[in-house]
Amino acid sequence: MAPSLLAADFARLADEAYAVADTADWLHVDVMDGHFVPNLTIGLPVVESLVRHARLPLDCHLMIENPDRWAPGYAEAGARSVTIHAEAATAPIRTLRAIRSAGARAGLAFNPATSVHPYADLLPEIDMVLLMTIEPGFGGQDFMDYLLPKIRNTRELIAAHGGEIWLQVDGGVSEETIGRCADAGADMFVAGSAVFGAEDPAEAVSTLRQLAVSAAAAADGRIGGHG
Ligand code: DX5
Ligand code: ZN
Repeated sequence: MAPSLLAADFARLADEAYAVADTADWLHVDVMDGHFVPNLTIGLPVVESLVRHARLPLDCHLMIENPDRWAPGYAEAGARSVTIHAEAATAPIRTLRAIRSAGARAGLAFNPATSVHPYADLLPEIDMVLLMTIEPGFGGQDFMDYLLPKIRNTRELIAAHGGEIWLQVDGGVSEETIGRCADAGADMFVAGSAVFGAEDPAEAVSTLRQLAVSAAAAADGRIGGHG
């Protein structure tokens, strides 16, 4: 479970991070540059501070142009996972390798309209595939149900490749939709408004986790903890 700080109070980021520290595995940090997506959030200086103050490892999702230039810096700053977008990277292999060399997990993200299959040869360079289940840029949007087959196909692609690659879903993940994502093969779940919009964010994370675990167990017991 990776609660997204995008739905948190940006003036109280450390407090919001503490609120989910006992029940979440990661803290998802959405970096947006106002170019790759029509929204602007936070960048490296805030991530550097969060590394010092959050009690969870940071999962940085870079929705920025030219991630080749910027992504390694997030890993060097101490983010434990750094994800770049397939649509934005011009040298994804070099950048994914640079992220890993700096000690972080390397993620590759796909917008709803971007197919994963052309990138199948890159799987050895990847620790996590992130599938957007909304158009990136804003929280609180409705989950795109028609992407469930894409989650399933991507899980099959990963299984055929072998090795341990996490499959993250991001966008519209809620008590309503998380079971369908887990059933389709996702094993890491980003949730913004479903967590920080809840009265008790920590409890919301636990509830979401239970729903995911039971849906996965009903499917085939794919889910393990990602600590
Ligand atoms: C959107 C971000 C998401 C966002 C999800 O571009 O990548 O991480 O926080 O928000 P919810 O969970 O509200 O859809
Ligand atoms: Zn995100």
